[in-house]
Amino acid sequence: MTSKIWGGRFQSATDAVLEAINVSIDFDKRLGPQDIRGSLAHIAMLAEQGVVAPEDAARITEGLTRIAGEMERGEFQFSRTLEDIHMNAESRLAELIGPAAGRLHTARSRNDQVATDFRLYIRDDIDALDAQLADLQLALVERAMEEAGSVMPGFTHLQSAQPVTLGHHLLAYVEMIGRDRGRLRDARSRLNECPLGAAALAGTSFPIDRHMTAKALDFDRPTANSLDSVSDRDFVLETLSAAAICATHLSRFAEEIVLWSTPQFNFISLSDKFTTGSSIMPQKRNPDAAELVRGKSGRIIGALQALLIVMKGLPLAYSKDMQEDKEGAFDSLDSLSLCIAAMAGMVRDMKVNRERMKAAAGAGFATATDLADWLVRKLNLPFREAHHVTGRVVALAEGKGVGLEELTLADLQSVEPRISEDVFAVLGVEKSVESRVSYGGTAPDNVRKQAQSWLDRLKER
Ligand code: ARG
Repeated sequence: MTSKIWGGRFQSATDAVLEAINVSIDFDKRLGPQDIRGSLAHIAMLAEQGVVAPEDAARITEGLTRIAGEMERGEFQFSRTLEDIHMNAESRLAELIGPAAGRLHTARSRNDQVATDFRLYIRDDIDALDAQLADLQLALVERAMEEAGSVMPGFTHLQSAQPVTLGHHLLAYVEMIGRDRGRLRDARSRLNECPLGAAALAGTSFPIDRHMTAKALDFDRPTANSLDSVSDRDFVLETLSAAAICATHLSRFAEEIVLWSTPQFNFISLSDKFTTGSSIMPQKRNPDAAELVRGKSGRIIGALQALLIVMKGLPLAYSKDMQEDKEGAFDSLDSLSLCIAAMAGMVRDMKVNRERMKAAAGAGFATATDLADWLVRKLNLPFREAHHVTGRVVALAEGKGVGLEELTLADLQSVEPRISEDVFAVLGVEKSVESRVSYGGTAPDNVRKQAQSWLDRLKER
C-alpha cells in the first residue's frame, strides 16, 4: 500500500513523470472556496439523511470552516504530492480532525466534486463579467450621448461609404455587448444544475438527498443523469464560446481605436494613461492597451478550440483528459475581464477630434447616396438611373479635384439639366446624417433616443 489517498491496491510509488503530468493543484487551487462550499453542503446533507453521525458531521463542518479561513488568509499549504484541490482539502481535514475526515467522501467522487466546483466557479465568473460588461456599456452610452451629433465617416470595405455619427458607431458596440451579456446569461441559466451526488458515474446506494445539496448551493435543481453529470463540460464550452464572441467584438473595436489614433486618421487621441512610448522613436505614442485587447482575443478564441478538441473524442463518463478544461478556461475568462476593463478605461479617457472626423466624413464623395436619393425624390428618377447620374457627377468632381458640394450648379446641370440649387442642402455631411431618420438610423435625434433608452435600461438593474 502506498501513502496516496487512493493507494490501497498499489505496491510501489508513482513515477516522477506521472506526478508531473498528473498534478493540477498549481491551477485548480483557485477552486478552493468552491470546493469547501460543496463539501459543506454535502456533509450537511449526509448528516440530515443519517448517513454520517451528527458528531462526525459537526467536526467535519468545523474543520472545513477552518480550512476555508486558512485559504482566505493565504495560509493554506498546498502540496503538489496531493495532486489536486480536492485531495489537498481532504488531507488537511484529516490533519485537523483525524479519521472522521474520511467520512466526508461517502456517496461522492472527485468526478462529481470537480464538476460541481467548476460550475460554481464559472457561475461566479459569469456574474462578475456581466457587471463589467454593463459598466463598459455605460461608458459607451455616456460617450455616445456626448457625440450624438459628431459626424464621422462611415465605412464599408474600409472605403468612405456614408457619413455617420460617432455616437451611432459607439452604440453599435453597446448592442453587441448587450447580446454578449445575453449569451453569458443563457449559459448561466443552463449550467445552473447541480452534479453533486452523481458520484463516480452511476449514482450511489446511500440514501442521499440531491435536491437538498442543489438548493444549498443555489442551483435550480440537481442534474438528471449521473453519467451526463460527470461527463458534461458543455457548460464550460458554452461560456468560452460566449467569451470568444465577446472578445471578437472587443477586438474589432480595439482595431478601430488603433486605426483612429494614428496621425493619418487622427480621429481620437488616447491619453498618457493608455499609451506607451518607444525606446528609440521619441515621437511615438503607441496604443498598447488596444493592441493587447486585439491580441488577447487570440488566446480567448484558442481556449474554446482547445477544449472542443479535448472533449470531442471522449467516451462517457469521466476521463482525466477533462482536467485540461481548467487552465484554458481560467486564462480565457481572466483575459476577457482584463480586456473589458481596458476598453472601458480607453472609452472614458479618449479625446475625440471632432473637427478632424467631420472633415474626413466629407472625403471620398461620401454624400453621393444623398445626391442619388435627391434625384429620386425631386426628379422622380428610378434609383438605378439616379445612381448612374450620380456616378457621372462623382467622376466630374474627381476630375476637377473637388468635393461634391464644391461643384457649381452649372457643373451639376452639365450632367443632369433638371438639377436645381436646393440640391446643395443635401450635399453637406451634417445634412446627410440628419436625414437618416429611419428607425435605427444615424440621425443625431435617433442616437440620443437610443442612448437614453440604454441609459434607462442600464440603470434599471
Ligand atoms: N483533478 C481532477 C480534474 O480536474 C479531479 C477529478 C479527478 N477524478 C479522478 N477520478 N481522477 O478533473
